[in-house]
Amino acid sequence: MKPSDLIWMNGDFVPWDEAKVHVLTHGLHYGTGVFEGVRCYDTEIGPAIFRHQDHIERLYRSAEMYYMPIPFEPEQIRQATLDLIGRNGLRSCYIRPLVFRGYGQMGLFPLDAPVDVCIATWEWGAYLGEEGKQKGVRAKVSSWERISPSSLIPQAKACGQYLNSILAKIESHKAGYEEAILLDDKGHVCEGTGENIYLVFDGQIHTPSTTSSILDGINRRAAIRIARDLDIQVVERDIARAELYTADEIFLTGTAAELTPVREVDDHAVGTGEPGPVTRAVQDVFEDALHGRAERYREWLDPVPVEAKV
Ligand SMILES: Cc1ncc(COP(=O)(O)O)c(C=O)c1O
Repeated sequence: MKPSDLIWMNGDFVPWDEAKVHVLTHGLHYGTGVFEGVRCYDTEIGPAIFRHQDHIERLYRSAEMYYMPIPFEPEQIRQATLDLIGRNGLRSCYIRPLVFRGYGQMGLFPLDAPVDVCIATWEWGAYLGEEGKQKGVRAKVSSWERISPSSLIPQAKACGQYLNSILAKIESHKAGYEEAILLDDKGHVCEGTGENIYLVFDGQIHTPSTTSSILDGINRRAAIRIARDLDIQVVERDIARAELYTADEIFLTGTAAELTPVREVDDHAVGTGEPGPVTRAVQDVFEDALHGRAERYREWLDPVPVEAKV
C-alpha cells in the first residue's frame, strides 16, 4: 500500500503516520465496526467518485444495523472525502471510510463505547489484478459457508463479518486459486469473498437475489442496470453449485475487483475458458461508466472539486 499524505479522523485531517488508535479500541477486539470500499477514478470530467452517495447510504445503513450512531451527517462524510482526495493530490484512488467502536469501554456490551470515524485514501490497482480483469481468474468453491442471516447480517458491511471472507480467501489462496466462491447455508451459490457473482446461460445473466445472503453490491446494481440497458435479460434466482460448471460465462463485480471474469471453477473451464461475449459487453460499458466515458451513466460520478486540489 502506498501511503497518502493525510487521513481524515473524527473531523480532522491528520498525517498518515499519526492516524493511530489505542490498543484497547473496542473494534480491534470484537470487530465492532462498519466500513465501505469506494473508488475514485481519473475520468474525462476530472477525478470523480463512483456512486459515492450509494456507498455513504450503505455505510449509514450498516452502522444502524449494528446500533452505531455515526456522529457526523452523511454530507459531512461526503465533503470530507472530496476534500481528502483533493488534499492528498490523488486523481484515482481507493477510499476506505471506517466507523468503529473506539477506546473507553471493553466487554461485549458496546453501546457505551465511543463511535469513531475515519477515512483513508490510497492508490490501489485492481484487486484481482489487471490480468485477471482481462483473461479471467481461477476460482474455487470454498468449504466455508457464507455467513447466514440467522447468525449475522449479510447485508451489512461490518468488520467482524469479514473473518468469513478471510477464511475463504486464505483457503483458496493456499490451494492455488485466485478467488473463492462461497455457498450459502442452503447450499446455493452466494458470492465471492468481496464480489457479487453472475452466471451466463444462453445470453441471459443469472445472479443470486438480494433475499439470499449476499451483500447488495453497488457495482451489482450498476452491472444489472448496464446489462438491461444493453437488452440483456437479468434473472435473479437461487443458483445451484453445479451450475458453476455448466455456465457459458461467469463474472464477478465489486468495488475492489471491478468487473472480473472467471475462467475456471474447481478446475472446470468456464465455457471456452476465456471471457465470453456477454461478460465483455457488460465489462466494456462498465469500464466506460467508471471512467466517465459513458454520458448515460455520468450521474453515477461525484466529481472532486477543482478548488479542493492542493
Ligand atoms: C462480501 C462482499 N460482497 C459483495 C461485494 C461487492 O459490493 P460492491 O459492489 O458494493 O463493492 C463486496 C464489496 O464490497 C463484499 O465485500
